[in-house]
Amino acid sequence: MTTTETPRLPIVILISGRGSNLQSIIDCADSGVLSVNIRAVLSNRPDAEGLRLARAAGIPTGVIDHSSYPDRADFDRALQGEIDRHQPGLVVLAGFMRLLTAGFVAHYHGRMLNIHPSLLPQLPGLYTHRRAIEAGYREHGASVHFVSAAMDGGPVLAQARVAIEPDDTPDALAARVLQQEHRLYPLAIQWYAEHRIFLDDHGQIMFDGKPLTRPRDLAMEQTLPC
Ligand code: GAR
Repeated sequence: MTTTETPRLPIVILISGRGSNLQSIIDCADSGVLSVNIRAVLSNRPDAEGLRLARAAGIPTGVIDHSSYPDRADFDRALQGEIDRHQPGLVVLAGFMRLLTAGFVAHYHGRMLNIHPSLLPQLPGLYTHRRAIEAGYREHGASVHFVSAAMDGGPVLAQARVAIEPDDTPDALAARVLQQEHRLYPLAIQWYAEHRIFLDDHGQIMFDGKPLTRPRDLAMEQTLPC
């Protein structure tokens, strides 16, 4: 049990690279305020820095190298087999940069979350920070959403907003957004662990038993002390 007395939710985290969101989840779980048990960290890239972070934390890791599979469907089947071996209640995509097949997404309907560095539905895809500045937006941020078959699509659960400064650079903006991601994602996962959120059969997010009509705004929430 954690300090919140919520039973620890078994999760599997998928990564492709650096792993800073992974580290924020590890830190919050270690400090006992995030009620998860990270059963495994899986990467599609053998050289992902995040694999080292997971090993340093004593978490089992696995590599399912997409370049060893003839097509996306075969890769997704192998990945699904490896995930399900760990019997997670939730699959957490943390910088996992692969498009997923519809069958894979359907298998994890309502039990797979992703974090994306934009205020979805604005700016799905790559280079969101540069694109937000170039588009002249005054505001940017990050979103946590349930995963659907559309890239960076699916119902949005929560967002963190970050102001774009007049002389902002993509790197500076990305760093400020990333700080917010590290607060936003553990909180959203904790809501899931506490059964406060679920996705109904119509793709509607229910929050505390009521339909969520717009994403929760991190600025209005009490974040986890980790
Ligand atoms: C994060 O900014 C995450 O939001 C983004 O990749 C980065 C991973 O960083 N994800 C996407 O763009 C998904 N479309 P991390 O490996 O340090 O957590």
